[in-house]
Amino acid sequence: MELNKIYNENCLDTMARMEDNFVDLTVTSPPYDDLRTYNGYSFDFESIAKELFRITKEGGVVVWVVGDATKNGSESLTSFRQALYFKEIGFNVHDTMIYRKTNPNPVMGKRYKQCFEYMFIFSKGKPKVFNPIQVHCENTKGFVKCFVGEKDGIKQYVNKKRNEYKNIDNIFEYKTVRNKETKKHSAVFPEQLANDHIITWSNENDIVYDCFGGSGTTPKMAKANNRNWIVSEISSEYCEIIKERLNTLL
Ligand SMILES: C[S@@+](CC[C@H](N)C(=O)[O-])C[C@H]1O[C@@H](n2cnc3c(N)ncnc32)[C@H](O)[C@@H]1O
Repeated sequence: MELNKIYNENCLDTMARMEDNFVDLTVTSPPYDDLRTYNGYSFDFESIAKELFRITKEGGVVVWVVGDATKNGSESLTSFRQALYFKEIGFNVHDTMIYRKTNPNPVMGKRYKQCFEYMFIFSKGKPKVFNPIQVHCENTKGFVKCFVGEKDGIKQYVNKKRNEYKNIDNIFEYKTVRNKETKKHSAVFPEQLANDHIITWSNENDIVYDCFGGSGTTPKMAKANNRNWIVSEISSEYCEIIKERLNTLL
């Protein structure tokens, strides 16, 4: 299987050529709920989910970015149905993270502005890589009591200096942007989103895959972070956008 290559085909065909336990990380966003037609292509969710499980390495992760459509006044809950299916076929639902849009589209009717999508973190067993994004703590003075065990039924503690840094929380905020590079695709996720998951769940030289390449945000950020990448995109028109975006990193 050739790495660092755009595969202009159904992702099921690309994955069929991958051996078992091949990919370290998938960062992807499926076409959901017929919200957009993507030039008329459809996708077979259950077969793709099963293939993702087969090709993911033990400890590897799939980041599945998805939202729900509202039809006849009700949310579809496709996102949850898909998450339950991933669990049913063997993935661990490691986390349900939120992608909060700081510039959401206006909505009509009796509802608040829809400002988020889910970012499900599915792992094959426990994630083998976790390089957390951290922030500096405001209060680093003093000590905290750390439990070290029991002696004669009495809990024992030692003083530890407070950590200077802590992990950020699991709601990531991004502005959705359309620029010269991506304006020809209707459902681009932010480069920073792909970047943050790639640096968190993979290391340099790992293999990062996107089965629904779109405009190529995942391979672009994988390449920028010195990861190997593979991308499948069924539309040849979108593959041209991916090629152009990857060329901006040459
Ligand atoms: C939500 S978009 C992905 C957007 C991408 N995350 C980005 O930032 O540009 C989903 C893409 O999946 C593609 N697609 C749909 N079915 C596919 C399939 N079976 N195999 C490969 N690509 C597919 C569509 O053409 C569409 O471009």
